[in-house]
Amino acid sequence: MQWSEISVSIDREGVEAVANMFHELGAGGVVIEDPELIDSYRAGGWEYEDLPPVGPERGVMVRAYLPVDSRLPARLQEIRARVDQILAALPHIEGKIEFRRVEEEDWAGAWKRYYQTTKLGKRLVIKPVWEEYSPSPEEVVVEIDPGMAFGTGTHPSTVMCLQLLEEYVGGGERVIDVGTGSGILAIAAARLGAAAVIGIDCDPIAVKSARSNVELNGIADRVSLRQGDLLAGVQDTAHLIVANLTADLIKVLAGQLDPILLPGGQAILAGIITARQAEVQDSLREAGYVTCEARTQDDWVTLVVQKER
Ligand SMILES: C[S@@+](CC[C@H](N)C(=O)[O-])C[C@H]1O[C@@H](n2cnc3c(N)ncnc32)[C@H](O)[C@@H]1O
Repeated sequence: MQWSEISVSIDREGVEAVANMFHELGAGGVVIEDPELIDSYRAGGWEYEDLPPVGPERGVMVRAYLPVDSRLPARLQEIRARVDQILAALPHIEGKIEFRRVEEEDWAGAWKRYYQTTKLGKRLVIKPVWEEYSPSPEEVVVEIDPGMAFGTGTHPSTVMCLQLLEEYVGGGERVIDVGTGSGILAIAAARLGAAAVIGIDCDPIAVKSARSNVELNGIADRVSLRQGDLLAGVQDTAHLIVANLTADLIKVLAGQLDPILLPGGQAILAGIITARQAEVQDSLREAGYVTCEARTQDDWVTLVVQKER
């Protein structure tokens, strides 16, 4: 099957409108290649080799795919008109649209390099939205459209958090996911049986992406999402907090766990390069938290901490 790849390169301000337009038109595999975002992740000590390495010289590339069928000419016309509208509403920004025909194997193959249905731990299965999968009765499927934000389940820190959630969510807990990205950890917690989950992210695009993934998984009644800076201003309490951030942010978060984390509760803290483990644990100890478990994969460590009794 042939697909039409639609690439819009646009200044950052127009990205959300373009991505929304693609989603509204039902385009598959919307992906945002933002060199600035990738640089900011790298500056935070992250290794983002699993993100697309290329991007436009300036601005952001938003790509989507539509099947080549009888509806395509009308849909491309609509996209052209909608991009023109976006540019007319934001006259100070620049944008360019390109179309290209690709064979299914080309784009599906490229995507699969990054996103495949993956079984993690004993029960969790992370499935990109466009793949088919028939789970066995004991499996718990988390469906993700990864285009909009970080969190596909391919990074070691995400993998370790998912595996630990499987162990620490027994059912009925209140969970907070700090730095929710695509919502992958929040959704996994809810699918594993948490009663109520709050996902927080400072990036409005991540919040939007997490919201659409929560809806995709049919758990909007149990997962709420909000924009915020770590746990600042959070009034809720939680039995379990999960945060896949960076060493520096985890050090700040250490001082915010009280009084949100309930007595006897755990925090799963990830995104820490092993070289900085001791320093992060010092900050946690100062805040009164002891490490009950430390897991390492590649150069990344994930800590499970709880309040010192
Ligand atoms: C490494 S991603 C983790 C995504 C997902 N939870 C996962 O495990 O794959 C970190 C996320 O934290 C968010 N973030 C960074 N600084 C933050 C802050 N101060 N407050 C809330 N979220 C933040 C980023 O926008 C990003 O979505």
